[in-house]
Amino acid sequence: MIMAGGSGTRLWPLSRSARPKQLLDVVTDEAGDVHSLLAEAFTRLRAVLPTEQIWVCTAARYGDLVRAALPELGADRLILEPVARDTANAVGLAAALVADADPDAELAVVSADHVIRPVERFADALRTAYDCLAVRPRALVTLGITPTSPATGFGYVQKGGPTEVAGAAEAASFREKPDLATAQEYLASGEYLWNSGMFVWRAQTVLDALADHLPGSAEGLARIVAAPDREAALQEIFPTLQKISVDYAVLEPAAAEPGRVLVVDLDVDWLDIGSWPALAHTLDTDDAGNATRGLVVALDSSGNVVVSDDPDHLVALVGVRDSVVVHTADATMVCPVGEAERVKQLLAVVEERF
Ligand code: GDD
Ligand code: MG
Repeated sequence: MIMAGGSGTRLWPLSRSARPKQLLDVVTDEAGDVHSLLAEAFTRLRAVLPTEQIWVCTAARYGDLVRAALPELGADRLILEPVARDTANAVGLAAALVADADPDAELAVVSADHVIRPVERFADALRTAYDCLAVRPRALVTLGITPTSPATGFGYVQKGGPTEVAGAAEAASFREKPDLATAQEYLASGEYLWNSGMFVWRAQTVLDALADHLPGSAEGLARIVAAPDREAALQEIFPTLQKISVDYAVLEPAAAEPGRVLVVDLDVDWLDIGSWPALAHTLDTDDAGNATRGLVVALDSSGNVVVSDDPDHLVALVGVRDSVVVHTADATMVCPVGEAERVKQLLAVVEERF
């Protein structure tokens, strides 16, 4: 199941509530073709699973865009949430539907906002994660990435003892989005991996974990699936569920139980396209380190991220360093690269005023 219901606020003004980042054509693949992060996630899964086993879970308002981006997605493989209640409930809803059809179903949950190369190594890690369930059927398995910086926007998994499966370890602890000092400690210790936000578990296992740690959601989701009119129950009950991510709601508390959470090493080039500096890695870069897209001229300028999304609109810079400049038809945004995380805050102010 691909989770594709996020709103991508830190990539404003390119990412909009009407068309969020996972549905923007921003990724250039190995063959040079440009497509969306969601299409890339779908193609990636098809390296491991038959197309008819792939589900997408997103907000109802993105349903048509998802269908258009993924013409090969099965007719009944799109799960639409009436409102966004974050990933704990997106995962829970998918798990409840899948477990209702097949109580033994194994479910991989992946994000829609990653660039991963090479795909073959992702496929190997996913298969290893499924292998874990053969020997530890009740495990919550996460795919972990070797960290390269003390990023505060990720979850951290502490590696514990080995398991029966090569490439998979027990997780000693899990901490979602630590503060900078803690992230620095984790990085220096060498004991932690970043949580990639991709998981493998039996659908029933994650429902049991929700029952333990987020009982309101577990009950609500069970009522939705049991209702004679599921769609009506979804509209009524889903909006009442607590908005929280699966990392906080399930992984953090479950990792306190020894051996419950396992981590598989995902040894790939991995980019979480969360903010402008991350997206810059997917753009063309000139000799002065300016990552650009569209009509852009940069004179004596370096380290900038410059995007003109309007084919007739030129963005021209002189003497500008380490800035993000993004122009779209109805909004232009400028900020220092170091403050790119604050675009989310900026958007909140914009939405208040307009
Ligand atoms: N269906 C649905 N519904 N999908 C959602 C929702 C929702 O309400 N909210 C977010 N998503 C999707 C996003 O589109 C994205 O593909 C994925 O779920 C993860 O959500 P993010 O909002 O991007 O999470 P994050 O980046 O802050 O943190 C997660 O990913 C990191 C790695 O990228 C966590 O799992 C971290 O622990 C992890 O390190
Ligand atoms: Mg993300």
